[in-house]
Amino acid sequence: MQHNNRILFIENVVKVYGSKTVLDDIDLAVTKGEFCTIVGPSGCGKSTLLRLILGQESATSGKIIIEGKPVSKPSPERGIVYQRYSLFPHLTVLENIMIGKLLPLPFWKSLGLKKFREEALYYLESIQLAEHADKYPHQLSGGMQQRVAIAQALIMKPRILLMDEPFGALDPGTREAMQVLILELWQAHGMTVFFVTHDLEEAVFLGTRILVLSQFYTDGRGSIQRGARIVADYPLNTFSVKVKETAEFGSFIQKIRYEGFDPKNLQHVTQFNLEHSDSFQTLDDNVSGRV
Ligand SMILES: Nc1ncnc2c1ncn2[C@@H]1O[C@H](COP(=O)(O)OP(=O)(O)OP(=O)(O)O)[C@@H](O)[C@H]1O
Ligand SMILES: [Mg+2]
Repeated sequence: MQHNNRILFIENVVKVYGSKTVLDDIDLAVTKGEFCTIVGPSGCGKSTLLRLILGQESATSGKIIIEGKPVSKPSPERGIVYQRYSLFPHLTVLENIMIGKLLPLPFWKSLGLKKFREEALYYLESIQLAEHADKYPHQLSGGMQQRVAIAQALIMKPRILLMDEPFGALDPGTREAMQVLILELWQAHGMTVFFVTHDLEEAVFLGTRILVLSQFYTDGRGSIQRGARIVADYPLNTFSVKVKETAEFGSFIQKIRYEGFDPKNLQHVTQFNLEHSDSFQTLDDNVSGRV
């Protein structure tokens, strides 16, 4: 597998914390513009995978290549939005959106920079909060604060946007509105998105590709503690109707639940449903059970 034309290329990535292997052998190639949703049982390593892509942590072994270069420390090309609002309480909404642009500048240069203000206003409008520019975060609802956090990431024009359960703390109505908004912003800005969620419906609705990460599988290694692997990988853009109520949608979600979340269902590594055309797998003989 080559990393040409892939915005992200991960091969044989293992992440160990202490004596615990969290990610076992991750292989993942992603084409620019893809909206990848990541699901899997709690504690399987979804946030860890995002931190590796962000460059906040390094892999124990394996290769992570972003836009042709090995990943290094976090950079503005990769933005992240967390579940909990990450706003500065003593800054206004507009200042919160501009802050990422201002921080790298020397103090005197950051004064009176009209350009940044205008840019921040543009993002504020795109998240439909223009009239709240001068409010402080505590004066906004949770959904509004989360929209500001998204604008805060977008103004840096990240080519890769990482989102870790960004809508997890929102009520259902706000959550649906945010789903529509994020799809609009993704289309408008042409980003590649990695979106972790616990909500399988949300994952199938939003994504162009779904990655199921799970420690529930088997291989040729006997009874060891296994780290998570990508046990299923499906394209979603060919999914005929993205309407949550259809039977097709419902049965697809059942299948994902069975493949990734059922501790009794231990699929063999050689039988994973890796149907996405970018999907690949490096298995050594020991792991594939061929020895
Ligand atoms: N810095 C760390 N040091 C030690 N162990 C860690 C560290 N970060 C994560 N872990 C462990 O790695 C495993 C995966 O954690 P991670 O947060 O990536 O899971 P997750 O899939 O995001 O879970 P959740 O769905 O609950 O958010 C867990 O067992 C966790 O305890
Ligand atoms: Mg997590």
